[in-house]
Amino acid sequence: MKVLVTGGCGFIGSNFVRRLFESRGDGVTVVNLDKLTYAANPASLADVAGRRNYRFVKGDIADPDMVRLAMDGCDAVVNFAAETHVDRSLLGDASFIETDVRGVFVLLEEARRRRIAKFIQISTDEVYGTIAEGSFHEDSPLNPRNPYAASKAGGDRLAYSYWASYGVPVVVTRASNNYGPYQYPEKLIPLFVTNAIDGHPLPLYGDGRNVRDWLYVKDHAAAIDFLLDAGEPGETYNIAGGNEAENIEITHKVLALLQKPKSLIRFVDDRPGHDRRYSLDAGKLGRLGFRSVTPFDEGLAETVRWYGEREDWWRPIKERDAAYQEFYKTQYGDRLATSSSTAKPPG
Ligand code: NAD
Ligand code: DAU
Repeated sequence: MKVLVTGGCGFIGSNFVRRLFESRGDGVTVVNLDKLTYAANPASLADVAGRRNYRFVKGDIADPDMVRLAMDGCDAVVNFAAETHVDRSLLGDASFIETDVRGVFVLLEEARRRRIAKFIQISTDEVYGTIAEGSFHEDSPLNPRNPYAASKAGGDRLAYSYWASYGVPVVVTRASNNYGPYQYPEKLIPLFVTNAIDGHPLPLYGDGRNVRDWLYVKDHAAAIDFLLDAGEPGETYNIAGGNEAENIEITHKVLALLQKPKSLIRFVDDRPGHDRRYSLDAGKLGRLGFRSVTPFDEGLAETVRWYGEREDWWRPIKERDAAYQEFYKTQYGDRLATSSSTAKPPG
């Protein structure tokens, strides 16, 4: 099987490429098409880069010529490539539309021209919006509430339309919040772990009581590997961690693992339109036969250990990347200046 993986130098994509080689060995050839945005790190795949059945192509999924070249001879496509950070989408960045919507269109058009046996569009639970009680299932209405989520909902339904209109064998997946090794230190867990290691403040939005369902990235990668074979074209699958927790609980656990004081927590002004709770019913994937859920405490301990051992991976980003430092100042400068040690009102 020859698989085009897009965004393979990012967090989940790199874990997925590694998973494919672990589970399928020489039975798979991987072409990794990645634009190498700020979120990419080729070092995340250093251990597989020399394999004969791995090829890296630097390019944009919104560029039809690059996509034609990269998809040549492929049996399957797994599209991870995206702009992914909600806070950046709230700064008015047009690349969310360009990649998460138009890029998906370019990939689908190329897949339509060829005999692609499976096209997996990696969507997100954010397309459902927030839920106070109960859990979303695959038929729940979509209600994306920030520009990232809305762009992903566009890509998600565009992909489905290529199944409904042209019979392209599209499978859509919607996963909950991932955590684990190789995650860029702008997202909650890697940001808080690396800040805590250095004794820097941990900026918790609002009252810190928003709930996310945490999915270990290796479980997510295993689920996509499973769906590459078992996913039914035209179907959507939720992928959940089964580990719902408030952000403040996650923060306390990170601090406990690193033996750092709670005084590092700073409550800062909330994210605009901050979704209160995400929750997925992943029964459909379970009924198809997939089981693999790492207990949160185990996955978090492994993650914290990884960031402790791999300072060579994240320190260059935090300490020497001017664009990262500029983003940090824009996102947290004023917030930290007006932060407090007690919860701020949500919303
Ligand atoms: P990431 O931000 O870590 O990596 C994104 C990767 O895509 C980078 O390597 C980047 O260079 C590449 N990329 C961006 N724009 C591109 C373009 N135009 N052409 C080619 N490559 C491009 O992302 P992630 O957190 O690993 O997320 C991967 C996918 O999973 C995304 O589609 C995201 O929406 C989805 N998802 C993420 C989570 C999560 O918790 N991180 C949860 C559910 C779904
Ligand atoms: O739910 C799936 C989504 O999870 C993915 O589709 C996105 O790509 C991914 O970025 C993630 O989105 P979130 O917005 O949930 O993740 P983030 O790590 O940015 O935030 C997690 C929670 O932590 C959220 O409630 C906001 C809060 N938070 C985040 C940061 C970065 C803070 O309180 N402080 C922070 O500094």
